[in-house]
Amino acid sequence: MQNRREFLRTAGLTAGAALVSQRSGWAQTTNEPPKSVSGPASLRAHGKAHGLLVGCAVNAAALAGNPAYGALIAEQCSIVVPENAMKWGPISPAPGKYDFHEADALMDFAQKNGQKVRGHNLIWHEELPKWFPGPITKANARQAMIDHIQTEMQHFAGRIQSWDVVNEGIDPKDGLPHGLRKTPWLELVGDDYIDLAYKTARRADPKALLTYNDYDIEYPDQEKKRDAVLAMVRRMKASGVPIDAVGVQSHLKADLAPPGKELQSFVREMAKLNLQVFVTELDVADRKVPGTVLERDAVVAKVYRDYLTMMLAEPNVKAVLTWGITDRYTWLNGQKEDKRADGKPLRPLPFDGNLQPTAAFYAERDAIDTRRADFA
Ligand code: XIL
Repeated sequence: MQNRREFLRTAGLTAGAALVSQRSGWAQTTNEPPKSVSGPASLRAHGKAHGLLVGCAVNAAALAGNPAYGALIAEQCSIVVPENAMKWGPISPAPGKYDFHEADALMDFAQKNGQKVRGHNLIWHEELPKWFPGPITKANARQAMIDHIQTEMQHFAGRIQSWDVVNEGIDPKDGLPHGLRKTPWLELVGDDYIDLAYKTARRADPKALLTYNDYDIEYPDQEKKRDAVLAMVRRMKASGVPIDAVGVQSHLKADLAPPGKELQSFVREMAKLNLQVFVTELDVADRKVPGTVLERDAVVAKVYRDYLTMMLAEPNVKAVLTWGITDRYTWLNGQKEDKRADGKPLRPLPFDGNLQPTAAFYAERDAIDTRRADFA
């Protein structure tokens, strides 16, 4: 995975939007959100009518530099999440020091536009500060973890809908007991680091829903990881560790059949545990889909439609966020392993590189409309 700076460089954000369009082959943007999908026709309005929060991850550089991007997010989203700006690496330039300016800008934007905000994320094995572990040792790691959670959560206290407290803490491939991922936190703090993180988080901001967020738990063959996540949240619930929701990241692939009954039964197990479920990072990679743009978009849209229709039939699924809103800034175009054979940029999101709605937009909106309004 690239670091943030590299990603921005690849995306050309630092070089200005016009250059981005030339390089990537997208025509110049109209600089205006599309009219036909705004107001009552927006995802946000359709979500509201069906008791569902709908939104996306926000790229801080684009929000600061591209007004049309901000206008689109204001129009379409009732909930937003910073793509990187609340991660420990981007937010902590030196041990114990925090620079909240990008995250604060997003909070102000959301408040101005009447949007809820997800916090992403507190404890993760990636995007750690450049100085990490530096002064952090086994002897002081517990306190360092507590301090980080408290500093960040208290800064935003009362203003966050849900926090991803631990991100991607399970990976049975690592071969550890309970499917725990081998992470610096596990090594430094010990086996109980996840419980400690959630207990600390509840005290730091009692108003935020506490979420566990993970990927590769969607498809039928990802059973091991799904089961390990289920076992972990069951154990947390049984032993009084505070947790309110599970985030299903949903980085899907357009060339695969969309996730089905295995994920549905996982979501229902969550309901039995009284846990909400959020679709937190939906995108549909068309890396292996041949054809014209329109043909590719139709395949991507079908995955959006089928996937969201299934998920939104479950009453405990309360929010849907895509990982970005426009193909122009998708992280997938910054990932080497996600390049298409024809070299063209991917089209995984509801709006294309010119901020125009694609078939995925309409599929997402139709899926929202299938949701029973009494699930709110
Ligand atoms: C990604 C961002 O989109 C990139 O800009 C960054 O370089 C790496 O992280 N799972 C997560 C997200 O929980 O935080 C990741 O976001 C995508 C995978």
